[in-house]
Amino acid sequence: MTCKNIFDVLKQINHRPRPFEFYTADSLWTDEHISKQMLQFHLDKSVDMASRNHPFIDRSVDWICSHFNLGAETSVVDFGCGPGLYTSRLAKSGTAVTGIDFSGNSITYARETAEKEGLKVNYVQANYLDFETADRYDLITMIMCDFCALSPEQRAKMLRKFRSLLKPGGAVLLDVYSLVRFAGLEESFDYDFNRFDGFWSPDDSYCFMNSFKYENEKVGLDKYTIIEKDRIRVVYNWLQHFDADSLMRELLDAGFTEVELYKNVAGDEFEEGHTEFAVIAR
Ligand SMILES: C[S@@+](CC[C@H](N)C(=O)[O-])C[C@H]1O[C@@H](n2cnc3c(N)ncnc32)[C@H](O)[C@@H]1O
Repeated sequence: MTCKNIFDVLKQINHRPRPFEFYTADSLWTDEHISKQMLQFHLDKSVDMASRNHPFIDRSVDWICSHFNLGAETSVVDFGCGPGLYTSRLAKSGTAVTGIDFSGNSITYARETAEKEGLKVNYVQANYLDFETADRYDLITMIMCDFCALSPEQRAKMLRKFRSLLKPGGAVLLDVYSLVRFAGLEESFDYDFNRFDGFWSPDDSYCFMNSFKYENEKVGLDKYTIIEKDRIRVVYNWLQHFDADSLMRELLDAGFTEVELYKNVAGDEFEEGHTEFAVIAR
């Protein structure tokens, strides 16, 4: 190896991309090794990683079912349903439920759970950006701030898709990161051997993590460069942050006319000062 090689690799590692220049969500969620660990995070009942803690999910689903009057006559679709923690609970209300996710591990787990519990849920393994259907829904959900991982163009596309998939009078429920969270972000750089106990690879790897903050756009990026013996991968974890006005603007631009703010997807009253908030758009 020459100095030039090392210099060029380090330059790439430290390069600051344009906001949302690369979309690598699939390498985080569908990689065979990584997605197994993501599934363990989802299923850990007590932590807010990948999914929220399960007592919160129970409370959230109770609120969703009563707030939206879910039952035999209604239908719900959950974008980025993961292993079905919301969809399986929602299905118990009798509502028709569809869950979409591109993680094979999560969808397999969700299907097995539904079968074990005798629940009817339509699980679709697909990239939700490309998902099309002739079905229409009373409620569309996208939970755990997945909306924030999308670029402005992808978000506009998803909101247009959501509108076209709603029955008359239907609603979208989603949550986002707030500017309070953005204020707490700091740029940083470090590297580690077998970072997070080998989270990134079953083999030995060096993982460089560069955190960038895009002040004007209110975007944060954790860029991971994972170097193994025979390959280099870069994973970009983008997060858009919103205040009520900026989120409202995107929803109104997409043709929604009514927007209600909540503290979270369990229907708690909206308060300023938290790292996340939720909306219902109609
Ligand atoms: C943060 S997790 C939240 C999972 C679930 N909503 C919950 O709260 O338990 C995001 C989920 O979205 C899925 N996902 C991310 N981008 C996706 C895409 N483009 N198409 C389909 N699924 C996607 C991931 O596989 C993951 O299961």
